[in-house]
Amino acid sequence: MENTNLNFENKTILVAGAAGFIPSHLSEFYLQLGAKVIGLDNFITGSRSNIELLTKYSNFEFHEVNIIEGIPQIKEPIHYIFNMASPASPVDFARIPLEIMRVNSEGTLHLLEVARDHHARFLEASTSEVYGDPKIHPQVEDYVGHVQINGPRSCYDESKRFAEALTYSFRTRFGVDTRTVRIFNTYGPRMRPNDGRVVPNFINQALRGEAITVYGDGRQTRSFCYVSDLVDALHRVMFSSDHTPFNIGNPEERTILEAAQAIIEILDSKSKIIFKPLPVDDPTHRCPSLKKLQQATDYRPQVGFRDGMLKTAEYFRSMSTHL
Ligand SMILES: NC(=O)c1ccc[n+]([C@@H]2O[C@H](COP(=O)([O-])OP(=O)(O)OC[C@H]3O[C@@H](n4cnc5c(N)ncnc54)[C@H](O)[C@@H]3O)[C@@H](O)[C@H]2O)c1
Repeated sequence: MENTNLNFENKTILVAGAAGFIPSHLSEFYLQLGAKVIGLDNFITGSRSNIELLTKYSNFEFHEVNIIEGIPQIKEPIHYIFNMASPASPVDFARIPLEIMRVNSEGTLHLLEVARDHHARFLEASTSEVYGDPKIHPQVEDYVGHVQINGPRSCYDESKRFAEALTYSFRTRFGVDTRTVRIFNTYGPRMRPNDGRVVPNFINQALRGEAITVYGDGRQTRSFCYVSDLVDALHRVMFSSDHTPFNIGNPEERTILEAAQAIIEILDSKSKIIFKPLPVDDPTHRCPSLKKLQQATDYRPQVGFRDGMLKTAEYFRSMSTHL
């Protein structure tokens, strides 16, 4: 059974990738609960401003480190480790494929060794990309996927699959107490405006009144999870008793074209929609089955599409006034 009502005052949580979008929200969540959070990051895709924000909490400690090279020695006991360190956007797949493959293999190995040595519980942040271009819908956790080995997304998809298998092996070989989540599209404040993912693209184009670019005919589907709901799901899985993989995200599915039209309407934008060729291996359907998660943890997303998009647009607006 899950146990999320814990006292965090004497707990130390290691967050790899703390300067990133989701992990900075996750770190803040535990800092506010009174845990000590130790963040690791090399800023390959993360932002220094996220670390400045976290440094306002006296219970936050930060190490600038590339986890591919190793993890600095931490003397105090670590109770929980979240492995969130990995670039995650298609723009990064093209730009830094080897760094992605190495952080999900060597970086994950180093963190698992820390988990083993500290007897810490370890959560691997995997991805819906392990399902590739799925042939079953919605995706359930025991589906093994339909993944391209040689293609523009392979560096990410295959290295995340490796990271899951490595996590599994540390569990069976060393008895490390592991958890695995497969994160589906998540959005919210602190995303990079130009990271090439759907939501920042659409919102920033809509805010500027530029044409919104839809790839393909826009009939491919996605589900979009607001970041506070995602943090809630991460927390619930970390403190559940089930070590098998969980999908986490939002189960409300819409086509990319519907998402573009809704964002134009929500932001009262004058943008038109234009169509460009579909990138290679772009998944046609993406929607999590959350049955397992909901049964095990009673998780229910709280933030609807409209509210989430408004909050995210507010963030991008405030960013542009600071430029
Ligand atoms: N955002 C999503 O929709 C989504 C979907 C599926 C999975 N995920 C996973 O969630 C995690 C966080 O994603 P995000 O969207 O917040 O991405 P992000 O790029 O904002 O955060 C990742 C962080 O990891 C850091 N990092 C990368 N390589 C590192 C290394 N070698 N050493 C130290 N730090 C390193 C980056 O600098 C960055 O701060 C990732 O593991 C990602 O694969 C995210």
